[in-house]
Amino acid sequence: MTTRPVPKTYRVKSFGCQMNVYDGERMAEVLATRGITPAAEGEEADLVVLNTCHIREKAAEKVYSDIGRLVKAGREAGKEPLIAVAGCVAQAEGEEIMARAPAVSMVVGPQAYHRLPGLLDRAIAGERATDTDMPENGKFDDLPARRKVGPGAFLTIQEGCDKFCTYCVVPYTRGAEISRPFSDLLREAETLVEAGAKEITLLGQNVNAWTGADDAGRAIGFDGLVKALAKLPELHRIRYTTSHPNDVTEGMIAMHGEVAKLMPYLHLPVQSGSDRVLKAMNRSHTADSYLKLLEAFRAARPDIALSGDFIVGFPGETEAEFAETLALVDAVKYAAAFSFKYSPRPGTPAASMDGQIAREVMEDRLARLQDALNRDQYAFNRYSVGRECEVLVERKGKLPGQWLGKSPWLQSVFFEGNAQIGDLVCVELVEAGPNSLAGRVLEPLPA
Ligand code: 5AD
Ligand code: SF4
Repeated sequence: MTTRPVPKTYRVKSFGCQMNVYDGERMAEVLATRGITPAAEGEEADLVVLNTCHIREKAAEKVYSDIGRLVKAGREAGKEPLIAVAGCVAQAEGEEIMARAPAVSMVVGPQAYHRLPGLLDRAIAGERATDTDMPENGKFDDLPARRKVGPGAFLTIQEGCDKFCTYCVVPYTRGAEISRPFSDLLREAETLVEAGAKEITLLGQNVNAWTGADDAGRAIGFDGLVKALAKLPELHRIRYTTSHPNDVTEGMIAMHGEVAKLMPYLHLPVQSGSDRVLKAMNRSHTADSYLKLLEAFRAARPDIALSGDFIVGFPGETEAEFAETLALVDAVKYAAAFSFKYSPRPGTPAASMDGQIAREVMEDRLARLQDALNRDQYAFNRYSVGRECEVLVERKGKLPGQWLGKSPWLQSVFFEGNAQIGDLVCVELVEAGPNSLAGRVLEPLPA
């Protein structure tokens, strides 16, 4: 075994969902406890963590080409980076990665990355180390405290999924549903706010499956958690993603009318507008029951912006069934949405179903669906013109004096003025584009 130099710099590259972004931040915090610092922009890092996503196809291929690129860039810079593969591809295909990619020294699953320092020691000693356990004593207990964060921070409240939609790998890569304890979440939220967060987005595969007990020991659900977090005085905004129609409760709907800090935005995936397809997907809701839920959310919070996820070309999907998805989209008028071609995932029931759909058919359906979704997003943005709202400033815009932030409805808003990152600035939305809006500052800002 050849020993390796102790890394001084790191880079974490996260792919896929926001939970991976959160995990990536936490891995960076773990590495910081070892005195390893982020590599400067444009510089090759001594240690690279590829935090991967397995939800759709070509995930593994992307990892191998990234590894190849890192090795080549390292060689050109005269170094051999330590490479760790983390995330859901590591969990699902860790052994193959170790066999196929000799440049990889560490493989670590999404439930084991708190043990990264131990893996790193082994890698420095020249060993190749894998940890894809899902330990009972979860990672959260062993992670270091949160560091300085931006104005918008993520907080994972729940992980894993027990729903077993027939197309999805998440129940296999992220494991069973677990809820983090209330007191841990309150403490982490307080730390995030002290570190500068104005907005917290609660994360989970099914955040609304969260259950716990408050400080007095009373059982509470997701709505109870949101209400408790809303009491933190310096926290201005709360968001959450993603939720499942089957775990929606009356309390969750009602909180959108009751909690001012909860932003008027709901991401509630539906996947298809056809009841036959939904059944084959094991979604256990119908198009109609989903639409009724949205109606109830709109009754509780009339300005709520709606968002969803869609899959086109699920095995056996007919043109008429796809048309039902388009009809559902027309009925809802989403403010934003994510849509995907069905991708057969190894080990999932749908991958071996009859009636796999040809790629061209999927591409045609996806293009038609996205036309409809883009049309509705643009319409929602145009409808928003004239609204007065707060924008949470996230970064500088491209032009001098320009700032970029998010409206309550999660739209990107540009404005010119005297501001700072983290400010909540009152603007009037004056002009709409398909993906963003222009705002005009309403109140003079302190110099
Ligand atoms: N193929 C295509 N899309 C998928 N998703 C999950 N699994 C697959 C798959 N096998 C989509 C769903 C889900 C989102 C996170 O990713 O729409 O809501
Ligand atoms: Fe996957 Fe379905 Fe669970 Fe969402 S609810 S993570 S789509 S199995």
